[in-house]
Amino acid sequence: MTKTVQVQLGPRSYEIRIGAGALAQESEWIVANLKPSHVLIVADRSVVALADPLQRKLTAAHVRCDLSVVPSGETSKSVAALERLWQAFQTAGADRQSVVVAVGGGVVGDLAGFAAATYMRGLRFVQIPTTLLAQVDSSVGGKTGINLAAGKNLVGAFWQPTSVCIDTDSLKTLPKREFVSGLAEVVKYGVIGDAALFARLESYADALLQRESEVLAEVIADCCQAKATVVEQDEFEQTGLRASLNYGHTFAHAFERVYGYGQLLHGEAVAMGMACAARLAEQLGMWSNDDSQRQEQLLRRLGLPVWLTPTDLDEILAAMTKDKKAAHGRLKFVLPTRLGHVELVEGIDMQRVKDVLRSAMTEG
Ligand code: GLY
Repeated sequence: MTKTVQVQLGPRSYEIRIGAGALAQESEWIVANLKPSHVLIVADRSVVALADPLQRKLTAAHVRCDLSVVPSGETSKSVAALERLWQAFQTAGADRQSVVVAVGGGVVGDLAGFAAATYMRGLRFVQIPTTLLAQVDSSVGGKTGINLAAGKNLVGAFWQPTSVCIDTDSLKTLPKREFVSGLAEVVKYGVIGDAALFARLESYADALLQRESEVLAEVIADCCQAKATVVEQDEFEQTGLRASLNYGHTFAHAFERVYGYGQLLHGEAVAMGMACAARLAEQLGMWSNDDSQRQEQLLRRLGLPVWLTPTDLDEILAAMTKDKKAAHGRLKFVLPTRLGHVELVEGIDMQRVKDVLRSAMTEG
């Protein structure tokens, strides 16, 4: 059965449909609801097999449909890849009634979303995320963009999708490490805003690791609802509420930089970042050791890393201050006060941060 989550953003509102086999109904949904003149599918090379039936069905329904295939990996979030998509849209004769459909993980969603946001000043855009990370985070909320050599996501736009289709079956073939990495963002939602979800994750841990469809659909819907609630209140990240979604990320972005994108998956870095944020909150007397332990145990049970391999501490600190979210080098941390509640904290003594990093390295 398909679950739905509504994202209420006035004229930019949309529906997220979640369930096993949801993708099989997507062409009918697109034709009936969007009445497109033309569909431009942008698919990650590794999941083209999921895009093929969609293209066939749209063509059978007399909708012109073009497919652009994007190489897998972060390097596709580039100016060159964006330009190739603009050119492909132009060659395909895209017009303002065309609909861009992204099939793949966060890379394709961000790239195709930004292409949709900018081509002819904005085309409608459907997200079909196929990784857990994209299903619970990047496909919802309208952040789109590309990377520059100087940093990730430095160029982009808020461009909400017209709808999101999440087929839990697409997770069945996801490599284990990638699937587990996505679970870090799932745990994040429990810690930042939903203690009951956190407790459910503790009891569902084995079922999640077995990728049981019903459990996945329930948990993904909970995460999408949690994200929708935040985005509805702070769509453009102005009040600080949306920044709560970056729990663990001040550390994580630095870990990705220092340990190497691709060497460390985003969710793995987030898990390590949440572990460090928990220690920092504990040190500041903001969070109880009990809750911190519960977070760490859940992350470990799910197979996520919570310790750092030894490296140069100053390099990590330097990477943290370079992050685009660090306003003029002043670091902001999202720190928990109890399970289900976080606060944005500024002005933390860097020596404390260094101590936390050091302890996370030595106790690993
Ligand atoms: N991934 C964080 C956000 O969408 O705001």
